[in-house]
Amino acid sequence: MLICIPEVLSKAEVAEFRRIMDAADWEDGRSTAGAQSAMVKRNEQLPPDSEVARKLGQRIISALTKNPRFLAAAIPLQIFPPLFNRYAASGGHHFGIHVDNAVRGDPLTGLRIRTDLSITLFLAEPEDYDGGELVVEDTYGSHEVKLPAGDAVLYPASSLHMVTPVTRGTRVASFFWMQSMIRDAHARSMIFDLDTAIQGLTERLGRDDPETVKLTGIYHNLIRYWAEV
Ligand code: NI
Repeated sequence: MLICIPEVLSKAEVAEFRRIMDAADWEDGRSTAGAQSAMVKRNEQLPPDSEVARKLGQRIISALTKNPRFLAAAIPLQIFPPLFNRYAASGGHHFGIHVDNAVRGDPLTGLRIRTDLSITLFLAEPEDYDGGELVVEDTYGSHEVKLPAGDAVLYPASSLHMVTPVTRGTRVASFFWMQSMIRDAHARSMIFDLDTAIQGLTERLGRDDPETVKLTGIYHNLIRYWAEV
């Protein structure tokens, strides 16, 4: 399941991120790719251990962990420090079809996670570049995603995905992974649907409607049943 998270960053925050990023040093994106994905990856990224990447990454994590839709959809246990990449038309940049590495380690913090979910946070407006769609394949087919700057998309890290060649302008984004408390994608998706339904019922019927309270109990008990913490 693909889930869009609108307005993780405001337009003003995106502009500030871009000012800082545009002034930073970039490196070949293959430095963080696995063996198969290095073959198909052509882009640039901020060095993952650079101060710029770390500071901006921390701001993204703190915005996301205050975002109710993100928390409901991801039920995150651990979030990998965000990375930043760009695809320029002038460089012929793209990222061919691949699956993300199952386990990611961060040498700076020693954090090691199983990558259940991938996230892309768009940092360039769609009208500023052509191509650069994130294409994610799941059991329902192939989905193209290109969102306004500041919006993010969550998708299964286990999916085959790619970034199509950028043919005009530059696509700038942050991307990273997380380990969810709910390992099973199907279970996670049902919990998200249940949560969304409960939010809707609460709006219509209020917080103390007895059936809504019961469903809220079921929501928590399912998490209790499935969560690894
Ligand atoms: Ni990937």
